[in-house]
Amino acid sequence: SMPPPAAPQGGPLPPLPAGEHLPPLPLLSNQAQASGRFSASLEAAPLQAALWGDGRQTTFWAYNGSLPGPLIELWEGDQLEIAFRNGLAQPTTIHWHGMPVPPEQDGNPHEPVLPGAQRQYRFSLPAGCAGTYWYHPHPHGHTAEQAFRGLAGAVIVRSKNDPLRHLPEQHLLFSDLKLDDDGQVAANSMADLHDGREGQYLLINGAWQPMIPLAQGERQRWRLWNASSSRILKLALPAHEVLLVGSDGGLLAEGQAIDSLLLPPGGRAELVVTGRFRDGVPAGLISQPYRRGKMMHAEQQQDEVVAGIMRHGMKPTQALPVSLRSIAPLGAPGFRRRIVLSENMADPKAMFLINGRSYDMDRIDGSGKVGRIEEWEVQGNAHMDHPFHLHGTQFQVVARTVDGMWEDEPFLAWRDVVNVAANESVRLRFVQSLPGLRMFHCHILEHEDQGMMAQIDFL
Ligand code: C2O
Ligand code: CU
Repeated sequence: SMPPPAAPQGGPLPPLPAGEHLPPLPLLSNQAQASGRFSASLEAAPLQAALWGDGRQTTFWAYNGSLPGPLIELWEGDQLEIAFRNGLAQPTTIHWHGMPVPPEQDGNPHEPVLPGAQRQYRFSLPAGCAGTYWYHPHPHGHTAEQAFRGLAGAVIVRSKNDPLRHLPEQHLLFSDLKLDDDGQVAANSMADLHDGREGQYLLINGAWQPMIPLAQGERQRWRLWNASSSRILKLALPAHEVLLVGSDGGLLAEGQAIDSLLLPPGGRAELVVTGRFRDGVPAGLISQPYRRGKMMHAEQQQDEVVAGIMRHGMKPTQALPVSLRSIAPLGAPGFRRRIVLSENMADPKAMFLINGRSYDMDRIDGSGKVGRIEEWEVQGNAHMDHPFHLHGTQFQVVARTVDGMWEDEPFLAWRDVVNVAANESVRLRFVQSLPGLRMFHCHILEHEDQGMMAQIDFL
């Protein structure tokens, strides 16, 4: 094969190409012969990519050579078997973020896959778990770096009774790219380690400021993933009609009209977008400023266009069912815990804490009971927002404080990430239905790696 052409020398890097058509997520193909089974292989390995389409090569770490990793499309009840190989020079795991997976299959840091080694991940999906999930590495202390170098992929679990199956889908997986002066993926700076990493480029499906086709009157179902390390996205489509129809763990009971969507790192959402192009109103997808209490990075000051919407003719508006799903509220808790998120700037070795402690893989921070409703009050005793994530199950947020006053959550939703704003608290309820060790942590991955994580054994 031909050697790659030499990189052009000298001068500042040109910006990444923008304005291309939104690339679809490549699909991981199912090798299983029988229905109800999904079997495939994944490999994490270095990848050279020509971001500028010229001789420059940027080294990423990728699943199956694609950025982001391939989309895994499943059905409720499927039996999954993923043959995984680690082609990296450091240990890794695959964490099935948000999915009801037994702990020993969930890519816990306790079970690293060593460089060059292989393992099978095997689990079955229960009924009722249709939703929008993702997978990413979770090794002890290296999660952020592996994720920001490119290791993240989407998972969709579908249901045969999906009331929105008639709508065309768009998939938008957000990630953050920080390049150094040589066009390589930059290492984390002090500011990144403190505030969480932020790069020059917010990418969607690996592309910068892509164009999404939408017709006047057309209804589309959008699934969004925030796979960035630390950006709390506040997204808006000012021209169009937007209904929030799903959260991390699948559909809501009913669509909710929204002006903007707050999507914390790790979080997902489903929208129904109806094309309503209007003169004088920007048609694109906008990232609005959101202050998350960063201390070292500048806060975004102005609206930024993160994707263009390309008007694509006119289509009849399809009807939407009023009720999407029934969600029963979790009742009175059988057990309560308080979880305090805090920062200790005085100790650079243990700066991000849960209940006053930094994560220790060998320490168990408490125990719980399978099948029992727990209520956690998660307190952000902190200067920054910390998006809180729990493994193994979905939870319902029941209330949160806004300016110090408790407010009931306006509607029921299944989530596995909730933003805990600085000096605010969130009450959530859940049930773990499988035994074993479950982590919970801040999904600003730099904070997680530095210890803002703990683990409870469910018996
Ligand atoms: Cu998406 Cu413990 O992580
Ligand atoms: Cu954090």
